[in-house]
Amino acid sequence: MLKVEDIKVGYHENIVLDGISFSVEEGEFLGIIGPNGCGKTTLLRVITWVKHPLSGKVIFDGKDIKKLSRKEIAKIMAVVPQISPIPPFFTVEEIILMGRYPRQKIRWMTTKEDIEAVEDTMQKTNTTHFRNRFINELSGGERQEVIITRALAQEPKILILDEPTANLDIKHQVRILSLIKSLVKEEKITTVMVIHDLNLAARFCDKLILLYDRKIYAEGGVEDVFTKQNLRDVYEVDVEVNHNPLINSLQVTVVG
Ligand SMILES: Nc1ncnc2c1ncn2[C@@H]1O[C@H](COP(=O)(O)OP(=O)(O)OP(=O)(O)O)[C@@H](O)[C@H]1O
Ligand SMILES: [Mg+2]
Repeated sequence: MLKVEDIKVGYHENIVLDGISFSVEEGEFLGIIGPNGCGKTTLLRVITWVKHPLSGKVIFDGKDIKKLSRKEIAKIMAVVPQISPIPPFFTVEEIILMGRYPRQKIRWMTTKEDIEAVEDTMQKTNTTHFRNRFINELSGGERQEVIITRALAQEPKILILDEPTANLDIKHQVRILSLIKSLVKEEKITTVMVIHDLNLAARFCDKLILLYDRKIYAEGGVEDVFTKQNLRDVYEVDVEVNHNPLINSLQVTVVG
């Protein structure tokens, strides 16, 4: 569904990533991890074609993204950025409805289908109760749930998330990631998520990519990537990696 081929990207003369290639299958949940400043957000910006690489290609569904218009990209892809600029004085419902924009044949003409998609998605993410609140009067975590709801209301084939749970408490972290995971599986939405929390990454992602020093340092299943050595090399801390049978997942503890 999504293929990244030999990407080289940087800002001015500073090369951030070089030789990055990977692919994500339909309905797969890929996690991207790595230390601060290693280029995770930059990679997402390349995938969404907001930042053009120096070389390399992004292909989805067999099409070179370079040849698609912004509206065509928005029909396929929904993005939850690390920092979301949101216009104030819109209600939650209006913000979520904005996610339907790429699907509207006539600009800003809301159809019955749009209303239903918004309603349905709000039910799923449990955000219906603050539909009439102003977005600028919500907490950081509540706002994040609205942004995630807007992305899902877009009914994307590919969902791109940059640290979606950073502002959420532990209950909401697990709730939102469980919901995303179930949508990935039921509706076969291909998902690429940057996340710092290694334990959440291990629990929810099918596959991981660990970025370090401009390259993919490790990739594969959680057990391939979460070795003591890999995590020590990249994060410069000693860790223990244990299987937690309660959640049937590897979990990492920093010990040094
Ligand atoms: N607009 C920009 N102009 C110049 N340099 C930039 C720009 N955006 C990012 N960088 C630099 O590129 C590198 C990668 O940044 P990026 O935001 O991709 O990192 P990240 O892995 O997402 O980090 P974090 O975990 O802190 O979000 C950093 O060194 C950063 O300073
Ligand atoms: Mg980032």
